[in-house]
Amino acid sequence: MKKTSTPSTKSAPKAEGEGADRIAKVIARAGLCSRRDAESWIADGRVSLNGKTLESPAVTVKPGDKILVDGKPLPERDRTRLWLFHKPKGTVTTTYDPEGRQTVFDILPEELPRVMTVGRLDINTEGLLLLTNDGGLARVLELPATGWLRRYRVRAHGEVDQAALDKLKDGVAIDGILYGGVEATLDRKQGDNVWLTVGLREGKNREVKNILAYLGLSVNRLIRLSFGPFQLGDLADGTIEEVPRRVLRAQLGDRLSIEAGADFDLREGDRDPVQTRIVEAREGEEPQRRKPARAGARTSRASEAEPPLRA
Ligand code: URA
Repeated sequence: MKKTSTPSTKSAPKAEGEGADRIAKVIARAGLCSRRDAESWIADGRVSLNGKTLESPAVTVKPGDKILVDGKPLPERDRTRLWLFHKPKGTVTTTYDPEGRQTVFDILPEELPRVMTVGRLDINTEGLLLLTNDGGLARVLELPATGWLRRYRVRAHGEVDQAALDKLKDGVAIDGILYGGVEATLDRKQGDNVWLTVGLREGKNREVKNILAYLGLSVNRLIRLSFGPFQLGDLADGTIEEVPRRVLRAQLGDRLSIEAGADFDLREGDRDPVQTRIVEAREGEEPQRRKPARAGARTSRASEAEPPLRA
C-alpha cells in the first residue's frame, strides 16, 4: 500500500502546526499549480471543501477534509522532488502558449510526474531551470527572501569595464525598480561583444537584460549556470536529471524544508536516483568542480567560441 504524507520523524515539521493549512497551500503542495493559481481557481468557483463550493481562499483545511478541484479529488501527494532541466533556447516557460510556441513542458519526458517550474526563464534564455512536483517548494525557492544566488553566463553587445560592473554591487534602481546587489565579472571581450558572469539573488523579470541595458549593453546570449547550490554543469541541452532525495534535503536544510512544507519520506516502491551532478557545496561556498564526462564536453548548442559553461 502506498504511504500517505502523514508526517513522521523523517518528515520536515509542519510550518503552520496543528495539521491545519491554508487551502491554496494544500492544493499547491499536491503539485496541481502554484498557490496563486489555486487562489484564482477558488475565486473562479472551481474548488469545493467538504461538499461546499468555496468563494474565498481564506479557509484552512485539516487532514481528512475533502477537497475537490473541478469535481476531482486532489492527487495523493508524492514526496517532494526536484529536477534539473537544461532549458533549450527558444522554449517558453509556460504550460500553454497562446502563440503556439514550443513550451518547456512540450519537451519534457512523458514519464515525468506533473511538475512546475521554479520561476521562469525568458524564451531566448538557456540553461538551468529547476522543476518540482511540490508547489510549496517552488514558492519558497522563488521568494526573493530565500536569496539563493542565480548565476548567468552572458554575452552582450557593447563595451563595459570591470569598474562599471563593480558599481552594481550595492544594487541599482532602474525605471523605478530596485535590483539588489549584483555580482558581475568581465570575463573577456570578443569582437563587439563582452562575456560576463552575473550573479543575482532576486529573480525579477528580465533582470539581467535590464541591468546590463542600463550599462549600455545588449544581451544576445544568456545561459543560467546555477541556482543556489544546483549547477548546470555538463547536463546536455534539453535533458533532465533528478536531484537525489538525500542531496535535496541537505541542500534545503531545516529552515527552507519547513517553510516549503517539504516531505522527504520514501513511498513504497519509490526509487531514489543515485546519480547526481549536484555539487554539494553550501550556499556561498565555492562549489567543487566535477570532471566533464569527456574532455572538453560542451552542450550540443554551445559554439566553439564561447567560454566553457562550467562555473
Ligand atoms: N534575466 C533575464 O533578463 N532573463 C532571464 O531569462 C533570466 C534572468
